[in-house]
Amino acid sequence: MAQNQGGNNGGVRQPDGARDVTEFDQRAATYDDGWRGAWHGEIVTRVGGIARKVAPGAETILDVGCGTGRLLADLAAMRPDATLIGVDPAPAMVEAARQRAAGRFEVKQAAAEALPLPDSSVDLALSVLSFDHWADQEAGLKEVRRVLRPGGVVVVADLFGTWLLLTTIVGRARRRIRGPRVMEAVCITTGMAPRAWQELQRVGPLPVVQALVADYSVPMTRKRK
Ligand SMILES: C[S@@+](CC[C@H](N)C(=O)[O-])C[C@H]1O[C@@H](n2cnc3c(N)ncnc32)[C@H](O)[C@@H]1O
Repeated sequence: MAQNQGGNNGGVRQPDGARDVTEFDQRAATYDDGWRGAWHGEIVTRVGGIARKVAPGAETILDVGCGTGRLLADLAAMRPDATLIGVDPAPAMVEAARQRAAGRFEVKQAAAEALPLPDSSVDLALSVLSFDHWADQEAGLKEVRRVLRPGGVVVVADLFGTWLLLTTIVGRARRRIRGPRVMEAVCITTGMAPRAWQELQRVGPLPVVQALVADYSVPMTRKRK
């Protein structure tokens, strides 16, 4: 799936994903501030609640595109027994998350498309408001599936809604996945089974931020006699 549409940054053409990472790198110091920081914080809190419900016994939890590490800090308080790992490609976000971690969780500089983790090593993978920025969303989901243990769960929270497709078309034509049905289809392509949508925020009658809960369930294979 070709996702990169390119963008212009001071006259230098950058792939979309790289441009997003540069922007987040520059915003890291003030990312949690203001109304936008408060809004992100609310979504993070809700995803923490979903995480607790869908995989209460998860031993290893990964946050893909962890930003300043707010979700990981919440999880560290809820699940001090779990191994918590965050990844983010923006160096300043990684630095901010490491400062917040104070040893309670590990943060690696990496993108979703190349997760620095072994196969089948994660019980629960979470991603909050990051998926829309992945340079290659399908490649990122494949990586998530690779690192999930059989039976593992993924929660991807972002802007999903059929009506949001309009903003994609009218806007910068970034060709991001916005339609819930398309998201489900891509999940299935990558080997994960969509289970449920959780609504996190709506504007009037329109859902804006939603989370897809999917899992990596390996079909039972019957032993030959
Ligand atoms: C809107 S912020 C969300 C941060 C955090 N999850 C939160 O909710 O506070 C998006 C984050 O995704 C990261 N990001 C951008 N491209 C990424 C990619 N390809 N893989 C993983 N994370 C990416 C950015 O660096 C940024 O920290």
